[in-house]
Amino acid sequence: MATKSKSLDLRQRMRNALQGGGEKAIEKQKATGKLTARERIIALLDAKSFHEYDLFVQHAGKDFNMDKKYLPGDGVITGTGTILGHPICIYAQDFTVAGGSLGYMHAKKITKIMDHAMKLKIPLIGINDSGGARIQEGVNSLAGYGEIFYRNTQASGVIPQISVILGPCAGGAVYSPALTDFVFVVDKISKLFITGPEVIKTVLGEEISMEELGGARTHAEITGNAHFYAKSELECFSQIKQLVSFIPWNNFKKADPFPSKKPNTRKYKIEDIIPADPKEPYDVRDLIKSVADDSEFFEVQELFAANIVIGFARLEGQTVGFVANQPLVLAGVLDVDSSDKAGRFIRYCDAFNIPLVTLVDLPGYLPGVEQEHAGVIRHGAKILYAYSEATVPKITLIMRKAYGGGYIAMCSHHLRADFVFAWPTAEIAVMGPEGAANIIFRKEIKEANDPDEFRQAKIEEYKEKFANPYVAAAYGYIDAVIEPNETRHFLTHALSISNNKTVERPDKKHGIPPF
Ligand code: HXC
Repeated sequence: MATKSKSLDLRQRMRNALQGGGEKAIEKQKATGKLTARERIIALLDAKSFHEYDLFVQHAGKDFNMDKKYLPGDGVITGTGTILGHPICIYAQDFTVAGGSLGYMHAKKITKIMDHAMKLKIPLIGINDSGGARIQEGVNSLAGYGEIFYRNTQASGVIPQISVILGPCAGGAVYSPALTDFVFVVDKISKLFITGPEVIKTVLGEEISMEELGGARTHAEITGNAHFYAKSELECFSQIKQLVSFIPWNNFKKADPFPSKKPNTRKYKIEDIIPADPKEPYDVRDLIKSVADDSEFFEVQELFAANIVIGFARLEGQTVGFVANQPLVLAGVLDVDSSDKAGRFIRYCDAFNIPLVTLVDLPGYLPGVEQEHAGVIRHGAKILYAYSEATVPKITLIMRKAYGGGYIAMCSHHLRADFVFAWPTAEIAVMGPEGAANIIFRKEIKEANDPDEFRQAKIEEYKEKFANPYVAAAYGYIDAVIEPNETRHFLTHALSISNNKTVERPDKKHGIPPF
């Protein structure tokens, strides 16, 4: 009997805790198009896999009448479960309870599940929906954030860390997502900013809506803080599952192999994708699909710095990270944002044992005062650093243009690519023929009877000499000049023989990348 009454007592306690912020607050949450924290976890994880911990944790606030308040679960739900059968740790802030604000015990719950994830070497997913530091708990709230940031940093490169922004994420709270590997945002729901529109208006007199300042589209397209943009929470969860299928569970593992599937070469035919005119653009994502298993390409940061394309695909069942210049946007140049985007992705792949495939077609770094003053030297160096530092298998294909610094930066042999292939259409030179002829024959062009005709003749001469892959191949900078239709064959072969790659690295604590 005693056992029965204890069980009833447990159930009653659970019912109280599971009610979250209560009916009214839940109604308000739903009215804004949001799921509740528990619904989110259930929708994301494998059916019936969620195990919740610390349900009975109570807040530690004493001031401002807080000692009289009951905050179920202290506004955050934590636990473990599986996605696609693999274990993960998860937390979801519950906005219905004190606005999901972060107090001392709320932070303790989060840091405890983070510590579990690190100990168990499994991914951590954090769902953010919070008014930020719990104002009534003062410095203890700030301390909580500090403890989370420290753990985010320690876990970086050890376990995958995924942040999902499903509500406000304001003030210093934004720095936890910023320290994690992937940030997911949802249209009209995510709001991510350091200071909100009202503060900006008061301090600077500038008016801007919440959506424009820190909405999903802003972070996916302009700031680059978000890696995945979805129209709804459910779409966001399916994106997370897709991502999880491509990545390994910690830095000692490789991604799960999948059965190899041939690409759909009827839909994605290389000869139809690449225009005959070398100046015509094309969508490099079609080229990736023409070689990837099942023509599946999972793009990361699709809307940001679209002049470079990054993302995951599989070659004969093995996950690879693609980095590709996008001729459709700014002719695929490297600039501040695309260097940041690619550099970070390269480091992610390297940390998690994901081989890199680089597709090259670019006229170089973007010239101009704006770029120079925005720090293209420092930012552009990130991609050089990331490729040079990466020890995973690195395979490069030069399709058309590979000029100047762009040639070096896009994983050339000089940055220790393992294999560099080129199509016969590749042009590897210090710069494009027009620019080169103008510089080296400036005097002769000026003095010629017909400067235009003379310039054109010199452009043709330069093209003949350098606008091909054979000069680079003669020095061994290209391993093989291949026909475009042999691309998948060469990539998969290079990958299959690179599994035991080992690289000696100089003894050091860590490098100092151009942050
Ligand atoms: C305590 C908070 C809170 C907070 C919201 N609530 N934010 N309680 N501390 N930071 C409570 C509200 O009092 C309210 O409680 C409930 O949550 C719901 O909030 P509403 O304001 O009614 O919701 P809504 O209208 O949707 O507005 C959401 C909001 C707004 C835009 C997030 O609540 C807001 O501006 N909050 C403050 C944001 C902020 O400035 N945070 C501090 C950032 S600085 P009741 O009881 O009425 O239901 C920071 C420093 C971290 O985080 C530094 C780390 C380095």
